Order: sequence, then C-alpha cells, then structure tokens
Amino acid sequence: MKFFILIVCLFGTVFAQSHPVKYKPLPVDDSTVIKLANQAVAKINAEGNGKFYNKLIEIKEARSKLRHSKITYTIKVILRKTYSHKSKPYTDACGINDTAPPKLCTIDAYVRVGSDESKIVILRCETIHKPVK
Ligand SMILES: *[C@@H]1O[C@H](CO)[C@@H](O)[C@H](O)[C@H]1NC(C)=O
Repeated sequence: MKFFILIVCLFGTVFAQSHPVKYKPLPVDDSTVIKLANQAVAKINAEGNGKFYNKLIEIKEARSKLRHSKITYTIKVILRKTYSHKSKPYTDACGINDTAPPKLCTIDAYVRVGSDESKIVILRCETIHKPVK
C-alpha cells in the first residue's frame, strides 16, 4: 500500500512538472506592471513611425508566468495619440487628440528573477474603433 502511494506521488510530481505553466492574473495597479507598461509605451513611441507621442491611458489586463527563473508578463494597454510632436521631449501634460481612435497594444515583458532589467516585445497594436469609456 505504501509503495502504491509512493508511485502515485511520483507520478503526480512528474505530471505537474511537465504540465504547461499557466499564466496567473495580476492586478493592473501592480508596481512592476505599471513600470513595464510605461517602458512599453516609451518603446512604442521610440520605434513607431507616427509623428506624435502616444500616451498610456489604461492598463486593461496583466498576467504573468514563472518558468526557469524567468517571469513573462503579458500586459494589454490602451494608448491614445497626443498633440505633442516627437521633435520635443515627451511630457505627461501632452493633450489627447480625440479624433484619433485609441489603440489596444499587447506586450510581453521578460524579467529574470532578482533582476531589474526587462526585455520588452510589442506583440501587436490594434485600433479600437468604438470609443472606450
Ligand atoms: C489628430 O488625429 C487625427 C487622426 O489621426 C489627425 O488627422 C489630426 O491631424 C490630428 N490633429 C493634430 C492637431 O495633430
């Protein structure tokens, strides 16, 4: 009987490890999530070919998973175009251009456990045609 239980436990362990790692939801006001969302918007502004800065309006969703001491954050953010031209430095006082539809961007950020550095990958940005309230 004891042997049988041991086998079951071993099996359970092996199964748990080979099982794909599930994402767990994170609060959108988590300090790391906010930091990564801001870094992602800065990256979108630096790499995008628009002439005006985008501004972070809202963090819609955030989740993370830990695998091999690497945390992957997947974050969805809503951005809007501002009136501030990229020829000038960005300031948070930039006004929103309401004629331009908002964008929903999905980003992945990779952070090593115990490190402050992150690698941000912009997965995609799509235009939202319906106004978000
Ligand atoms: C506001 O955005 C619209 C749509 O992208 C654009 O056509 C317009 O020129 C922008 N207005 C200003 C003042 O930048």
